[in-house]
Amino acid sequence: MAAPKHFPWSDKSLSPDARADMVIKEMTLDEKIQLLHGPGWQAIFAPQESGPLTRAIAVLGFIPGIPRLGIPDLQMTDSNQGISMAGAKGRYATALPSDEAMASAWDPQLSYEIGTMLGQEMRDMGFNMSLGSGINMIREPRNGRTFEYKGEDPLLAGTLAGQELKAEKALHLITDVKHYAVNDQDSGRIVVNSIISKRAMRESDLFAFQIALQDSGAGAVMCSYNKINGTYGCENAYTLTDVLKKDFGFKGFVVSDWGATQSTTKAANAGLDIEMPGNDSFGEPLKKAVESGEVSPARLDDMVHRILRTEFDSGIVDDPPQPQSPNVMHGFEVAQKTAEEGAVLLKNAHDQLPLNASSVRSIAVIGGHADVGVISGGGSSQVSPAGGNPVPPPQSLAKNPFTAFMLLEVYHRSAPLKGIEQKAPKATVKFDPGTDPASAAALARSSEVAIVFAVQHASEGMDLENLSMPNNQDALIEAVAAANPHTIVVLETGGAVLMPWIDKVAGVVEAWYPGIRGSEAIANLLFGDVHPSGKLPLTFPKSEADLPHPLHVGPPKPDADHPLPKLVGAPGLIGMAMGIGPFFDVHYDEGLKVGYKWYDAEKKPVLFPFGYGLTYTTFTYSGLKITSGDGATVSFTVKNTGKRAGTEIAQVYASLPQSAGEPPNRLVGWTRIDLAPGESKQATVTVNRDRLSVFDEETDSWKLPAGQYTIRVGASSRDLPLEHALSFEK
Ligand code: BGC
Repeated sequence: MAAPKHFPWSDKSLSPDARADMVIKEMTLDEKIQLLHGPGWQAIFAPQESGPLTRAIAVLGFIPGIPRLGIPDLQMTDSNQGISMAGAKGRYATALPSDEAMASAWDPQLSYEIGTMLGQEMRDMGFNMSLGSGINMIREPRNGRTFEYKGEDPLLAGTLAGQELKAEKALHLITDVKHYAVNDQDSGRIVVNSIISKRAMRESDLFAFQIALQDSGAGAVMCSYNKINGTYGCENAYTLTDVLKKDFGFKGFVVSDWGATQSTTKAANAGLDIEMPGNDSFGEPLKKAVESGEVSPARLDDMVHRILRTEFDSGIVDDPPQPQSPNVMHGFEVAQKTAEEGAVLLKNAHDQLPLNASSVRSIAVIGGHADVGVISGGGSSQVSPAGGNPVPPPQSLAKNPFTAFMLLEVYHRSAPLKGIEQKAPKATVKFDPGTDPASAAALARSSEVAIVFAVQHASEGMDLENLSMPNNQDALIEAVAAANPHTIVVLETGGAVLMPWIDKVAGVVEAWYPGIRGSEAIANLLFGDVHPSGKLPLTFPKSEADLPHPLHVGPPKPDADHPLPKLVGAPGLIGMAMGIGPFFDVHYDEGLKVGYKWYDAEKKPVLFPFGYGLTYTTFTYSGLKITSGDGATVSFTVKNTGKRAGTEIAQVYASLPQSAGEPPNRLVGWTRIDLAPGESKQATVTVNRDRLSVFDEETDSWKLPAGQYTIRVGASSRDLPLEHALSFEK
């Protein structure tokens, strides 16, 4: 499709706002309304033989454009673990590692590379809008979508999402950040009311969005299913208009999560611009609300303006995607690099790793379907497995789309067993499925090294029952470790898990959901062809009793006091059935103390702290210097004191003056440093003023508290050998 040339608003020298206004002047009311909603649930489920929906790559993510005015269709796709709506038309897409892997790399440049790869694949398939990057905070580690998010710190999550989306925007796509906001658990997501203070919200969950939007210029924000302090996320004037549009200065549009629009007038006037994928609220009802004056013509034009100006600003009008075959090999490279940089070495007793390929004689590979593939996360971000799922699901599951959506365990065809065999051609490598701990232990006993692959399924639409490894895998690991002191556990999990066996195994590698090149990446790390460098983007607690919410809160059973709510858009909500129950509240009383800030403030020991990760060498820190200006410039020296090359992710934390009432430490910056054996390098981290500020509810503004700060530098949130005072005056 060639770019339209013949409209007055085709003039690229005009601003996106001016171009949008010119189009609006030509539009009828029906055309305006058409841009504000999806096809409707009935149309989605009906076969399409004619009409605009036949142009849709995926009807679930489609809004027809206005050809007579040169306004393109919006073709949207999820893109958290790769392009997931590609499967709608049977197209191949690279299955990337989960977002948690990307976050563990702490590498903004890698995030940019990921964004470029995703953006190119979207264009290759004809999509012009990404449904983005998920950056909800990990307040509830049992959240089934932890794997789609980027950890528990707003600076880390916001910065990485910012780079990913900046790269996609540079390829002329509309980009999106989600799920706005405080959608920090998934069970009961459409009936849960997240109760949280303004200050906690602004400094944590919303701060992540603020950073991502500032850094990327993303054109869309997806509002979430849940209520926030009593009002649905998609009709919440505080979050959508006061904060997002006014305070953040966001000029793009707000799109509802799928089926999350609960009203017409309230939602439109609160700041929602597009209902997806239905039309129950923003189709005919919105037209009527405009005609009756409940939604003003000015607000209607603002909604349309936001969409059109984003279309011009992103480049989707001037440079529409030209479908072509994807560069599969490049996708592999990015997937592998992400899996390698994102894996976190959690334990390595007696330098058990890396394995020596030329001397190891026998290896037992156990469990996790490691003979055929690696597991991935479920739900809307699920990338169709190339070549099909090598671990066929039970028939009963596959037949029901709603349960399948959550419960299907999909593996990608990248078998760790093969990667290990290739690295150690002289060794005897045997596989045991791990279903019978005794048989696995027998194989481990007769092998020099045992590698257990332990997998955890997690998905959108549900939370984990607990943080324990499912399916008797703890017992499997215990049995194998008892049989072989050289036992290494490779975890493929959505987030943090408990490890009752941690003292009994020699090594632990957290590989997250490692994607289509998981096998190569894991083998490279285990055999030392690549050194591990990832650091945890979230805390691994010792026990669920230590969590801010030891008991997970879900929807109560319906009864006279807790009736089932009446929700708008009933047919569509079948798809969200997993979220329906009586309304309930989750009190985020931990407030500012998200993740490590909680464990630090409560002085709780943890299994592995935020920011933690080992490698095959060691580092020392020295020479901290700080110069203050508007914020602070922090410099220090890191030395590689071991015998192998390594990459250190050096982290900078700040303690604010006591009067600020903040948790003990907050991450304010970091840098990645590559070091040869014996090499030292000086690193400099700039800490912007906003990283040191607090949100003052009384004045509704940010303030830099006066007084004494302590800047700390080191290898994790709990290993900060350098510290220096810093003062700011009133
Ligand atoms: C998810 C969103 C996703 C949308 C479209 C919803 O179920 O919550 O993250 O973008 O579906 O697939």
